[in-house]
Amino acid sequence: MNIEKQREFIEKVKNMNVGKNLKYSIFTMGCQLNENDSEKLCGMLENMKYTKTDQISESDFIIFNTCCVRENAEDKLFGKLGEVKKIKEQKGTIIAICGCMMQEKHIVEKIKKSYPFVDILFGTHTLHKLPEDLYTVICEKTKLQDIIDIDGEVIEGLPIKRNDKIKASVTIMNGCNNFCSYCIVPYVRGRERSRNPEDIINEIEELAKQGYKEVTLLGQNVNSYKGNGNLGITKFSELLRAVNKIQGIERIRFVSPHPKDFSDDVIEAIRDCEKVCKIIHLPLQSGNTQILKKMNRKYTKEQYLELVDKMKAKIPGLSLSTDIIVGFPEETDENFEDTLDVVDKVHFEQVYMFIYSRRVGTPADTMQNQVPEPIKHVRFDKLKALVEKQIDENNKKYVGTTQKVLVEGKSKTNDKMLTGRTDSNKVVNFEGSEELIGNVVNLKIVSEHMWYLKGEL
Ligand code: SAH
Ligand code: SF4
Ligand code: F3S
Repeated sequence: MNIEKQREFIEKVKNMNVGKNLKYSIFTMGCQLNENDSEKLCGMLENMKYTKTDQISESDFIIFNTCCVRENAEDKLFGKLGEVKKIKEQKGTIIAICGCMMQEKHIVEKIKKSYPFVDILFGTHTLHKLPEDLYTVICEKTKLQDIIDIDGEVIEGLPIKRNDKIKASVTIMNGCNNFCSYCIVPYVRGRERSRNPEDIINEIEELAKQGYKEVTLLGQNVNSYKGNGNLGITKFSELLRAVNKIQGIERIRFVSPHPKDFSDDVIEAIRDCEKVCKIIHLPLQSGNTQILKKMNRKYTKEQYLELVDKMKAKIPGLSLSTDIIVGFPEETDENFEDTLDVVDKVHFEQVYMFIYSRRVGTPADTMQNQVPEPIKHVRFDKLKALVEKQIDENNKKYVGTTQKVLVEGKSKTNDKMLTGRTDSNKVVNFEGSEELIGNVVNLKIVSEHMWYLKGEL
């Protein structure tokens, strides 16, 4: 889609803002896709002569890019809105809210009723229209709502201000067609729409030129990526192979694939592409076949375990991470034991654990026999104990080995230390000179801690 019109609005707002030294704050909730969207929002704002600040009280523009995948993601927004009201009263700050929550009608109604001071509400399908919406609000001194239910087209060519200089995220597809029964994402992000291969490859080639070393390909279901055939790319495995050829890029990651679409060609591409990290995020959600059926995940416990075995057999040194939901409606203690059993068998490198959260409009929300909160917590703690035991055991295996670590920068907690990640995404801290930032170095692992390893050059 042509974004010429938005470029014109960027120019118009920029001309109004020149010389005013205006500041903006941005709050991003949710997944890496939202982070990547926020980088585009920042790109547009900086082109309109706003500079980023961490001091929310000095902001002339505040934007919230929201998530609604679980209730606690929503609560974060309402907590913050009370705070910005005062800032707006003092400074006339323009307040905008965008992202996934804005695609939920009941939330939009709640905001309009309880937080009427918010100036701009826009959704996931109108993200690129920030310049136009902002221009209208500034000029006409009105409030504005720009939310549509129709799937947005794939937008190319938006300015972008990236958070990092070594690792970059590249969205390869938007939306989801899977409708897992607990999940709100398909309703707020629309159907799957893949970017054209040439646009993706151009973006990554440009990143390589700028010195980026690692790319993460993003989508709600990356292995159902569909290319238009340009550059010979029609599917995810072909895209991986093409990205692997880009000079300068040293590491490739992707999130998230769906187990049901993990075909042999994808496994073989991961095996063959030396830059693709040999850690795969493979969301399990539940280890029990009946619960998986109710979740509409389209695989059984046995099929998941067979897939893991096949992947491990074909890809030497492979490790896995996963997402798990505890307390899905009707989950019994016995069902939950299957989840523990799969975790026990697979030995994940990392497990992201979630307590089931009811989402309005999803089939699971109206299922009978919702699991009581205290039981959900008991199960969560049980899973957490098992996972931590495994991580601890796994960390011990690293000690004494040599790991290739991409140096990402200085450690946030200790200025004298550098920090980076192994191929398997483990954080390693070590002493070294700043010139190493952006390089892959060999580190001997000397000690392990729950969430990081310590290394020596
Ligand atoms: N598309 C990705 C992830 C989307 S959301 C995938 O399928 O893997 C990220 C994770 O949030 C999901 O994997 C799931 O574990 C969790 N999640 C989604 N909806 C949830 C809900 N209603 N309650 C609790 N966790 C949820
Ligand atoms: Fe949600 Fe399932 Fe789609 Fe992932 S695959 S975004 S969990 S509906
Ligand atoms: Fe949240 Fe939207 Fe991502 S609901 S998890 S920000 S796609």
